[in-house]
Amino acid sequence: MTLMQRCRAALGALVLAGAFGTVLAQQPLPPADPPPAAGPALPKPDESNAERAKTQPGNNAPFWRGVRESGTQPGYVSLPGLEKGQLVQEFVQYPGSQYTTAGEAWRQVRNQWLIPYGGSLLLIALLAVILHYVAKGPLTVKAAPTGRMIERFTPLERAAHWVNAVAFVVLAVSGIVMAFGKFFLLPVLGSTLFGWLTYALKNLHNFAGPLFAVSLLIVIVAFVKDNLPSKDDMAWLAKGGGLFNGAHVPSHRFNAGEKILFWGGVFVLGLVTVGSGLVLDQLVPQIAPTRGNMQVAHMIHGAATVLMMALFIGHIYMGTVGAKGAYAAMRHGYVDEAWAQEHHELWYDDIKAGRIPAQRSASAVPPGDAAGARA
Ligand code: HEM
Repeated sequence: MTLMQRCRAALGALVLAGAFGTVLAQQPLPPADPPPAAGPALPKPDESNAERAKTQPGNNAPFWRGVRESGTQPGYVSLPGLEKGQLVQEFVQYPGSQYTTAGEAWRQVRNQWLIPYGGSLLLIALLAVILHYVAKGPLTVKAAPTGRMIERFTPLERAAHWVNAVAFVVLAVSGIVMAFGKFFLLPVLGSTLFGWLTYALKNLHNFAGPLFAVSLLIVIVAFVKDNLPSKDDMAWLAKGGGLFNGAHVPSHRFNAGEKILFWGGVFVLGLVTVGSGLVLDQLVPQIAPTRGNMQVAHMIHGAATVLMMALFIGHIYMGTVGAKGAYAAMRHGYVDEAWAQEHHELWYDDIKAGRIPAQRSASAVPPGDAAGARA
């Protein structure tokens, strides 16, 4: 073999070896040997924190998984008490929330529904009465006062009403500061002052609640009879009570608007608010103060009170500046016959016909009070 022939053969062998080597490299590797018995074990999902510490020191995933699942499998604690071994609640879905741990679900309902929509409803109600006052002004009595007085509210009715009203205002103001104060008071007062104010109002709220509850029951008993529906209510409602055209539509002692306020605002929402409030105050022994029960009571309380406050913005407007003579009636107890005839004509007719006494309480009209009522 010549030198040239030898070189060509060597080159060919090299190319062949390279190509073979590439093919070999693409072949799957033979199975690896099992790890030596003394080496660390792979982490398992159901192992304890101590076991995990051997395979992955510092990895506390099993511990935190246990914390999150403590809602379904409470852990052991030596302190007695409700939910002591349960750090995080079970998964739930409250109306309006995602399916998540109950504490987070409650937070979502509060922050995404109750606060924004409840706050907007209150502002809308406030705007509506301001617009009504600007556009229509107060309801007035066209006829001249007669000087003859009718007892509209007895001392007991007035006392129950005003105790209830004062408690309501205290509850409403303190509730609004607790729920919405961080948006409009915190930036003005700063966190220290706002914290103290909210703390004080929260305690006031807890004590005014039972006062409101008791006086609400007396108000319901005192006013239920004259708030029972009658066939004339439909006619009153059909004419919008004259609220928008100024007409005086006949009604009995309470018109259909007042009856709606009584049944919707005082009876239903009042009792729901009081019931849920007493649960939150932990005054209902049958309902354990667990976080879940508190969350449900809180959401019901928040929704009912916001609706109630929106309704009562309308009531307070009509009872103060919206209808002339109404406030004096609740303050002094008496109305002029002209007022009674124009605002509650069917009630006035019953009094004139002797079917209802013009004076129901034992006391006669005190002269000073009657003068106040005429104003
Ligand atoms: C500052 C707050 C309040 C003011 C200024 C106020 C004012 C008045 C006035 C002037 C009347 C007489 C209306 C008429 O002669 O027909 C009245 C009636 C009445 N108020 Fe109030 N009120 C207030 C709060 C409340 C509260 C908190 C409640 C109950 C939760 C309430 C329940 C009633 C009831 C039941 C009546 C009888 C009329 C009806 O049954 O609808 N009031 N209020």
